[in-house]
Amino acid sequence: MAGSLFRTKSIDRLIAEGAVEGGEHALKRTLGSFALIALGIGAIIGAGLFVRTAAAIAERAGPSVTLAFIVAGIGCAFAGLCYAEFASMIPIAGSAYTYSYVTMGEFVAWIIGWDLILEYAVGAATVAIAWSEYFNKVLSFVGLQVPFAWSHSPFETMQSNTAVHGMMNVPAVAILLILSLLLVRGTQESAWVNNLIVITKVTIVVAVIIIGWGYMNPANHTPYIPAATTYTTHEGVTHPYGGIMGILGAAGVVFFAFIGFDAVSTAAQEAKNPQRDMPVGILGSLVVCTILYVLFSHVLSGVATVEDFRTAGKEASVAFAISKYMTGYEWLSKFVTVAILAGFSSVILVMLLGQSRVFYSMSRDGLVPPVFSEVHPKYKTPWKSNLLFFVLTALFGAFIPGDIVGEMTSIGTLFAFILVCAGVWILRRRRPELPRSFRAPAVPVVSTLGIVVCGAMIYGLGWTNWLRLIVWLAIGLVFYFSYGRSHSKLVREAA
Ligand code: ALA
Repeated sequence: MAGSLFRTKSIDRLIAEGAVEGGEHALKRTLGSFALIALGIGAIIGAGLFVRTAAAIAERAGPSVTLAFIVAGIGCAFAGLCYAEFASMIPIAGSAYTYSYVTMGEFVAWIIGWDLILEYAVGAATVAIAWSEYFNKVLSFVGLQVPFAWSHSPFETMQSNTAVHGMMNVPAVAILLILSLLLVRGTQESAWVNNLIVITKVTIVVAVIIIGWGYMNPANHTPYIPAATTYTTHEGVTHPYGGIMGILGAAGVVFFAFIGFDAVSTAAQEAKNPQRDMPVGILGSLVVCTILYVLFSHVLSGVATVEDFRTAGKEASVAFAISKYMTGYEWLSKFVTVAILAGFSSVILVMLLGQSRVFYSMSRDGLVPPVFSEVHPKYKTPWKSNLLFFVLTALFGAFIPGDIVGEMTSIGTLFAFILVCAGVWILRRRRPELPRSFRAPAVPVVSTLGIVVCGAMIYGLGWTNWLRLIVWLAIGLVFYFSYGRSHSKLVREAA
């Protein structure tokens, strides 16, 4: 049985399964290429831009956060090309997990599937925490406020009074519950709401760029790359600040803002024409967002100071910067705050959707219990999975600080991207004859560069994050050897 760890699922069988499956497990094919790009942008623009950018400015890179966005965008472009080749070749739900099952075997597939919990479930929790910050901001417009203790994790203390601790982030849990229930109802309705939110989200990003451009203070951009030093956060965590390490660390942090374009590939089983629509959906959403991010972060770091983002402007940072510096645009601050709440909701929705889809595939393969692939008889959604992941994400959202879950999401996703880049190359060598409606250019150069750039961002995130990733993967191995390996359909059939 030793060899079975690396037994691969046959790609021909995989495609056949996707094509012929029907009955109670079938997902509806409802998404065209516009819907997929919208799904991508819906997942992409969110807390990474509106919350993590300020954290990257404050803790890692100052104004050179724009360079960090460029590094992260380049890494995503390489990985995105590899994702697109896979997605066009293997149009089956499950994303990187499925891709690695056919290329590198079950063991690596398990590692990726487990790792993707960091991307999707922990990512959803991160955005829910960001949602909670902006929710409090909206409440403040009408003179209300969720008390600090009930809108922060137990590991956080109030900036102005360190005696006040968080207890539990209740708004984060609430939004996760509402959206999990919406997902149980089905993705078609969710996609419609998503389109509306995407338009609003892009509008506010463009509005902030255009209006904020005139409010930039050149002093805030000088020096553009701060000298290399360190910065210790309010919670006592020290990071390299400035210089190359500052940019790499910031790239790891704002990489979060790009997460989601690969969620498009998890919806392959619901795409009307996956061969054509998947590459368009993935790369189209990536290009639009990269351009917006670089401009937006240039404006944000030019309008407010680094000190602002370390203190009073740490939370709901974009609304803070507009209110403080862009006089006469209080309405924009309010509009942005409300729109961001809707925007974050669409991100959480897509991440929760991606998560349930990955576990759907893993469950079909026998690696996780059957409950994750039980489809609701009427809504045709993996509803039990949605509810179970609500519980997991709520635990993260309620009790862990945004910085930690955000960086865990980044490192987990970067690791998955590296495996996807490697996988595309392996499959080119092992199965060159398979039809690929989209071919990533210049493989293995592109796949190798994807590995190098994503690896550099992992390096920049620092040892605490490496350790978290290792511990998480170790927990996953325990699950694999105690359940997945003995229940794997592939291993059982072979036996
Ligand atoms: N890219 C998504 C966001 O920034 C996850 O919220």
